[in-house]
Amino acid sequence: MLKIENLKVHYPIRGGFFNTIKSYVHAVDGVDIEIESGKTYGLIGESGSGKTTVGKVILGLENTTAGNIIYKDTDVAKKSNRKKIAYNKDVQMIFQDAMSSLNPRRRIIDIISEPINNFENLSQEETKARVLELLSIVGMGEDVLYKYPFEFSGGQRQRIGVARAIACNPKLIVADEPVSALDLSVQAQVLNFMKKIQKDFNISYLFISHDLGVVKHMCDYIYIMYRGRIVERGTREDIYNNPQHIYTKRLIAAIPSTNIDKAKETVKIREAVEKEYQEHYNDYFDADGKVYALKKLTETHYVAMKGGEE
Ligand SMILES: Nc1ncnc2c1ncn2[C@@H]1O[C@H](COP(=O)(O)OP(=O)(O)OP(=O)(O)O)[C@@H](O)[C@H]1O
Ligand SMILES: [Mg+2]
Repeated sequence: MLKIENLKVHYPIRGGFFNTIKSYVHAVDGVDIEIESGKTYGLIGESGSGKTTVGKVILGLENTTAGNIIYKDTDVAKKSNRKKIAYNKDVQMIFQDAMSSLNPRRRIIDIISEPINNFENLSQEETKARVLELLSIVGMGEDVLYKYPFEFSGGQRQRIGVARAIACNPKLIVADEPVSALDLSVQAQVLNFMKKIQKDFNISYLFISHDLGVVKHMCDYIYIMYRGRIVERGTREDIYNNPQHIYTKRLIAAIPSTNIDKAKETVKIREAVEKEYQEHYNDYFDADGKVYALKKLTETHYVAMKGGEE
């Protein structure tokens, strides 16, 4: 459905008296991602690895330095193409912090109506009916229509964000850390109804997170990102049961354990993974510390290592 090819985003770093470009941050440096319809994809990596930048580029909130984004046979890296194929309607985003992404001065009815007014030709009455329908999908009622975002809890705001994102029947939702700001119990609620909505409306998710634990039960397929590149990609089973890259192993070892009795064991595993990371570093990173190209292990499973082909 959506194909990202060799995506690069380099941010200029300016400095000095004349504020000239001194160097570039290679936030995204050659990333390929393929998204099929109705599936959930994880884009996982530590802070600064480039995940949000990928999401922003997909949504057109950031420009590309290089690469293609193919949707319906059209390259939407060129933003003027997006209108032609209703791309901006089909692809929506849910943010980590719904408080800052929902306009604080607008009422819920206006917030959810906005995309409907942008993309559909409905009367005022029809729009209100649609907003109510959307609210009921995310488990909310008529009583919230004329309230403001600050009157809700984090979990409720995230539901409002979801209602807004699904307002115009999107094909793909990029969800950037949608539950990171929420309590564990609320996280589960939000994830569950996101899952349900996906089934009911056949939406694809690109789920961005720094925590492999959070997305474990959500994702069909996972991309592990590090230093602006994909270090490993595979099905959920490939990644959790048979991780290959030393960085993926590190992320898996970092998943918080809920079992207190296993604390000692967890420490040992983390030490072993860290040792492996140090000892095998050169198999996975070149002399400049750059992630190698991906090498195919099976039809679904790829790992970036020495001998991978660009
Ligand atoms: N507008 C910008 N100008 C310059 N550098 C930027 C800009 N936005 C991001 N960066 C840099 O690009 C890199 C990737 O940032 P990005 O926000 O994509 O990371 P991330 O994986 O989403 O991290 P986090 O988990 O903390 O959200 C970082 O080194 C960041 O400092
Ligand atoms: Mg981010």
